[in-house]
Amino acid sequence: MNSSEIRTKFLEFFRKRGHAVIPSAPLVPENDPTVLFNTAGMQPLVPYLLGKEHPAGKRLVDVQKCVRTGDIDDIGDNRHLSFFEMLGNWSLGDYFKKEAINWSYEFLTSKEEGLGLDPNRLYVTVFKGEEGIPRDTDAIAIWQDVFKKNGLSIDVAGEDEVMKPGVRIIPLGTKDNFWIAGTTGPCGGDTEIFYDTKPELGPVTGKFVDVVDSFRLIEIWNNVFMEFNKTAEGTYEKLAKPNVDTGMGLERTTAVINGKDHVFATDLFLPILNKISEFSTSDNDKAKRVVADHIRAAVFMIGDGVVPLNTDQGYVLRRLLRRAVRYADMLGMKHGSLFWIAETVIDKYSDFYTNLSTDRERIKQEIDKEEHKFRQTLKVGLKEFEKCATQDISAANAFSLFSSYGFPIDMTIELAKEKGIKVDVDGFKKEFEKHQELSRKGAEQKFKGGLADAGDPMIIRYHTATHLLHQALHDVLGEGVGQKGSNITTERLRFDFSYGSKMTDEQKKKVEDIINEKIAQKLPMNQVNLPREEAEKTGARHFFGEKYGDQISIYFVGNDLASAYSKEFCGGPHVKNTSELAGPEGKWKFKILKEEAVSQGVRRIKAVLE
Ligand code: SER
Repeated sequence: MNSSEIRTKFLEFFRKRGHAVIPSAPLVPENDPTVLFNTAGMQPLVPYLLGKEHPAGKRLVDVQKCVRTGDIDDIGDNRHLSFFEMLGNWSLGDYFKKEAINWSYEFLTSKEEGLGLDPNRLYVTVFKGEEGIPRDTDAIAIWQDVFKKNGLSIDVAGEDEVMKPGVRIIPLGTKDNFWIAGTTGPCGGDTEIFYDTKPELGPVTGKFVDVVDSFRLIEIWNNVFMEFNKTAEGTYEKLAKPNVDTGMGLERTTAVINGKDHVFATDLFLPILNKISEFSTSDNDKAKRVVADHIRAAVFMIGDGVVPLNTDQGYVLRRLLRRAVRYADMLGMKHGSLFWIAETVIDKYSDFYTNLSTDRERIKQEIDKEEHKFRQTLKVGLKEFEKCATQDISAANAFSLFSSYGFPIDMTIELAKEKGIKVDVDGFKKEFEKHQELSRKGAEQKFKGGLADAGDPMIIRYHTATHLLHQALHDVLGEGVGQKGSNITTERLRFDFSYGSKMTDEQKKKVEDIINEKIAQKLPMNQVNLPREEAEKTGARHFFGEKYGDQISIYFVGNDLASAYSKEFCGGPHVKNTSELAGPEGKWKFKILKEEAVSQGVRRIKAVLE
């Protein structure tokens, strides 16, 4: 079964069980300054997991694009990827453990509607109870019931976590079976489903962790039973209604059910790796995997509005692309071939992610440009590195490799590792921060990986201001303006849009004036939910080429939709009235701080309310 059949089957299985199919949110969280990318399916759904009503209803199913770049060094082994897709079904205060567990079992084992896996090869972990949170006896009983009905063994492992014949359920502690993204937010105990990749070895025996480390049992699906919200103070508040958050990694599942021992052997990667081989003069498999992974991630990031830069998401993209260039060199790939690898990635994925085909040329150009840019300094930079690599790399040398030769710090670290020397990373960071507009606090927040306080009043104000800005830019610059990206912190908004030239001072002033007028007019911000066709007819702004669900939430500024000043497809949150943008004393004004190019035909505005 190939990956696109798995996607389709999953969505269809849950659609038939009352779930609305919702599209993936873009990779870059819109209103969450604390994470650079969505790292799990639940992230874009946090407001709804905390109780907000979702326009599509209480049962959702999706395939969410995710990026995790924590262990970039591990990429190229069997399991680690920087970009991946997560299949998930969601109950927002609707069904709970019984339905979730039964459906998981049914989807995995049903030959007609699901993956048709052999039930005998499934094992599950559950939350054993720890740190004042009780053992999940419900999940244990439900699993036992399911297994018994299907003629399977139902024994539960003891405190020693040892598997022996008959044991199918393994209770584990918070480290393994309690799920939270970062440090705060919706969370709860979970049950993870594992697949036996080597049944020919006979019954699974031994300590659970060893069996997993030997890759005999591989986790394929996680069902989180979200019952709490962990606050910044570290307390667990009970949610008004518990949710179900499930996550099944598409790549890993595709590998496992096709009997492949790694994700790179699946249809998700084979065309990309074959293309890389065409351009290579070496058989270095790890290098091929690195290039495949990084270009795939880069294509999706650029498709969602990220461009290579030295900060934030742009930096992550830059570091992936530059690492890809170095590995392409190891493979003897011709200069400029990453462009063609990107083309293959787009071919492979654009059926499902249609924005990739509408944006095809821009994505390829962006990758090509970054490759050429880096090549101008790579060779000299490597020589320079060799010169300083006679001893550990000092902060000053690491910084000069970065600023003069474009070496991302991770690349310097990686090169140093290959030589068995160290880099003064802390020193580098200090040096780096001195040169950045980002405050140290800002940078730390971004790398902590916690969840946004989407309820922060400043962020909400900037979110509404972004809508006003989007419309005002249309008013002043014409209909050709399209949103390319948005990022909000408590200190400013940032908005990327397509436009061919630098804005004049007069145009900037006009945009500011329009927005300040809308603030002064104290206009209400309203929201409606409409079926997609009707929503499109309203003329509300949305991303061309982006997939939307069947029920659309529209936010509009004004008393009614027909006469609204701004209308956009959007999940919120927003202020209730534009007057709130003027701050508590009604004195703030909207001000554009900066207007600059981020790439060919894409401009960036940074603006504040002050
Ligand atoms: N949030 C859980 C995970 O990412 C399940 O979706 O594993």
